[in-house]
Amino acid sequence: MPKVRWVPEGIEVDVPVGTDLRTASKLAHTQQGDACGGKCACSTCHVYVHEGKELLSEADEDEEDTLDKGFDVRINSRLGCQARVEGEGLVEIEISRESRESYFNEHPDEAPPGWREKR
Ligand code: FES
Repeated sequence: MPKVRWVPEGIEVDVPVGTDLRTASKLAHTQQGDACGGKCACSTCHVYVHEGKELLSEADEDEEDTLDKGFDVRINSRLGCQARVEGEGLVEIEISRESRESYFNEHPDEAPPGWREKR
């Protein structure tokens, strides 16, 4: 079964082929935002793929259009709700700042002390 790892947390979860990174994040209980509920409309599930890019589904035009509205978009950026794990192996990702901030907006009780001041 493919494995998804979040850095720097070191959290890992095994997922069936075909699982998107947003679903994997929920299985692993990470702090990844998803304000639109996975409808490719918000970019708050924005992650950076550090390893295993080739194991993921190709980004389509809708994903790229939505990512264009994101913050600090990089060459390895993907939307967690759109990128599906399609092959066996390890996918290593990092939750973007915008995604983490969105998560803390929805779950303020889990935000570290002072996180609003650091923005
Ligand atoms: S959850 Fe909104 S674009 Fe992925």
